[in-house]
Amino acid sequence: MAIERTFSIVKPDAVANNAIGGVLNLIEKGGLKIIASKMIHMSKKEAEGFYAVHKARPFFGDLTDFMSEGPCVVSVLEGENAIARYREVLGATNPEEADAGTVRKDFGTNIERNAAHGSDAPDTAAFEIGYFFNALEIKER
Ligand code: CMP
Repeated sequence: MAIERTFSIVKPDAVANNAIGGVLNLIEKGGLKIIASKMIHMSKKEAEGFYAVHKARPFFGDLTDFMSEGPCVVSVLEGENAIARYREVLGATNPEEADAGTVRKDFGTNIERNAAHGSDAPDTAAFEIGYFFNALEIKER
């Protein structure tokens, strides 16, 4: 299996709930290596740019309000099959449907305030890593 990189956000709800360590612990226990990480606070415009693929969705306004309401922890994760692996660690988008022991089951509240984000494909992972990390912070593979 290929070594991949994926992108993670510990969202403002999880940061506010003192769950940064809990989420990062599940990431590391899940076999993924955190190779870059920092705390940021997005403006509404920066959140809109990040979630541009969802611009036409009815929840876009609420989602970008939420993502800009407080600080987040953004990270780059590396490991075998990292994109799919991290989505397993996260669990279903809606915490009510997530399996026990997943990030969203343990730390999420509802489909919007769901504790963490992970890239869904190689092209979105590349865009999302590049949106937050520069060449000093993460080296090209
Ligand atoms: P995330 O993995 O960050 O990708 C897009 C986000 O949109 C998703 O997690 C949820 O937080 C949010 N989202 C997805 N579907 C809905 C929905 N039906 N209603 C509200 N928010 C949603």
